[in-house]
Amino acid sequence: MGPQGARSKSASEMTLSDRADALEEQMMHELDKIITTKSVFANLGDGEVTIEDSMALLEKHPGKHFNMGPDPRLPRMPDQPTLLDYFKCRFASTNHLLQSAACAVKNGHSEKVVLACLLHDIAVVSFIRCDHGYWGAQMIAPYVDEEVSEAIRMHQALRFFPDESMGYSYPDAYLRYFGSDYTPEPYIVEEYKRALNSKYYETSRLICINDIYAFDPDAKVDLDQFEDIIGRNFRQPKEGLGWDHSPSAHMWRTIMWPTRYL
Ligand SMILES: [Fe+2]
Ligand SMILES: [Fe+2]
Repeated sequence: MGPQGARSKSASEMTLSDRADALEEQMMHELDKIITTKSVFANLGDGEVTIEDSMALLEKHPGKHFNMGPDPRLPRMPDQPTLLDYFKCRFASTNHLLQSAACAVKNGHSEKVVLACLLHDIAVVSFIRCDHGYWGAQMIAPYVDEEVSEAIRMHQALRFFPDESMGYSYPDAYLRYFGSDYTPEPYIVEEYKRALNSKYYETSRLICINDIYAFDPDAKVDLDQFEDIIGRNFRQPKEGLGWDHSPSAHMWRTIMWPTRYL
């Protein structure tokens, strides 16, 4: 840190740009010692079925080892991360989620509905698009009421089917996204039929209703306003989200440390 022999500044003496420089230097130093790799899934997203050759990588980087911890290029997570830390450090975009939840508050819905709206697309913004309702539901199931996770799972299918009695039409946006001749696959149709008989149908439908109004790029909603609702309705594990032993802890760990070698 700084030229050799120079007195290093104490934390309180550092300016913001000093601190950014120091962090960058620390990151470079950490990157200097490790090899980060991509999972096959990241390559599939680039249209390639390929895996890096481990021995070739070791030979290319003599003296280095594979990364078995945090990726120094990504925002640093606290030792015991909370859901809010994932919002701040790992979710690539939160505006749509915040607007959906704000819409649910404005429409006078219950805290569980608000939470379901706040979390309905977390899989999309942190992890994966395909079947995001199922992934998102699994991620949160151990920590929330069944109503919340089931509603999120079922919104995967329900959003493709109108329910005029609840004021939900097929979204215009989907015509643009998928074309007018897109029809949902049979597994989605079957899931929709099952959802019609679910005791959480209405909650799931409310996700869809608050969802379609939630794409205003200029609307600014603060995450802080949902802290209390999260506190009351999301069972934050004391070890930190990802370090607990729930059935979905590994999913959170993977999002926290996405380039861990194994
Ligand atoms: Fe969604
Ligand atoms: Fe959405």
